[in-house]
Amino acid sequence: MAIERYYTLGNTGLRVSRLALGTMTFGEEWGWGNAKKDAAQIFDYYLDHGGNFVDTADMYTGGSSEEFLGDFMKERQNREEIVLATKFTFNTSKNQHINGGGNSRKNIRRTLEESLKRLKTDYIDLYILHCWDRMTPVEEVLRTLNDLISEGKILHYALSNVPAWYASKAQALTRQFNYEPISALQLEYSLIQRSIEHEYIDLTQDMNAGIMAWSPLGGGLLSGKYKPGIDDQEDVKGRLKHITDNGGEVSSKDNERNWNIVKTLHEVSEEINQPMASVALNWTASQPSVASVLVGATKMNQIEANMKSLDFEIPSELMKKLNECSAPDVPYPYTFFQPKMQERIYPNSKVGLKPDSYWKDLRIG
Ligand SMILES: NC(=O)c1ccc[n+]([C@@H]2O[C@H](COP(=O)([O-])OP(=O)(O)OC[C@H]3O[C@@H](n4cnc5c(N)ncnc54)[C@H](OP(=O)(O)O)[C@@H]3O)[C@@H](O)[C@H]2O)c1
Repeated sequence: MAIERYYTLGNTGLRVSRLALGTMTFGEEWGWGNAKKDAAQIFDYYLDHGGNFVDTADMYTGGSSEEFLGDFMKERQNREEIVLATKFTFNTSKNQHINGGGNSRKNIRRTLEESLKRLKTDYIDLYILHCWDRMTPVEEVLRTLNDLISEGKILHYALSNVPAWYASKAQALTRQFNYEPISALQLEYSLIQRSIEHEYIDLTQDMNAGIMAWSPLGGGLLSGKYKPGIDDQEDVKGRLKHITDNGGEVSSKDNERNWNIVKTLHEVSEEINQPMASVALNWTASQPSVASVLVGATKMNQIEANMKSLDFEIPSELMKKLNECSAPDVPYPYTFFQPKMQERIYPNSKVGLKPDSYWKDLRIG
């Protein structure tokens, strides 16, 4: 394996592939995932084609995702070759008791032991806080995670679905207490979901952490197989047709803005003769600060195509077309960081549209 194909995870020496394998679809409990033998084929294909970074969570498919991975790694004796990430926060306790969810020391310790059992391993490479619980002091979370590092149960940690201020405070505390730094932020990022650009690109560059992008295809919408009115579409099978009662994932995606993006993506994919899903994955991987893109797949032809999605470059004029059709609205106060306002601070300077280029162009030293 050529070392050039791997990135380091944040400011660590751990090498991870740019495409990570998402395994939220391993297990049939949620109605749209894979049976074990199909999941095994996807897992093998991913590893055989240069992937080494596998992502799961304690709550995925009621624990089946971790169970499957544990069995696969044991049968193949390849635990050491894999950079294994799992997550905690959601309530996975048997009786759904009050301390069986959240980011308290008590819950982290409970759920980690259960994850280790299901995964049939004695350590996790990257342990990820799944969601801010709006309650536990960040000091308690960091102390617990650093104790777990000292005990050898986890090697590194990351945050997912947290406000930027929380991540920033947490990283500042790791510096103050000489703790292990936060290596990554796992965030939703795709052509249809670009709201992280307002805060998290600058943030992760400042933190020296990479973004692990989840749902890069918007749950499948960017594959091009859906049409407006997803619920009524008879001729397609797909996960978005199953998800109608979990907070409106389908209805929130089935809108005019997204269909315009899908249309432009289709035009770009025709022009460069690449599948729409591959172009969408490539777009996400090409954005500043994105370290890894989490690929999901429920069929072999999907993982086969997705693993080739970084083997080409999107020409700059087509990249521009994709960027323009998907540009997110800019809420206050981010309006102040746009070129027009910035030019009033730095007259006659060339400030780019991307947050990173403000600083690259203008910062001294
Ligand atoms: N931290 C978090 O809160 C969080 C949240 C969500 C996900 N994640 C992680 O991110 C991973 C990926 O998320 P995701 O599954 O939502 O990603 P996604 O890439 O947006 O959606 C994947 C789905 O798109 C369809 N698909 C994939 N490749 C395709 C192709 N080449 N052609 C046509 N359809 C294709 C499949 O659905 P069909 O079965 O319908 O064909 C597949 O399950 C998860 O497995 C999980 O590890 C993390």
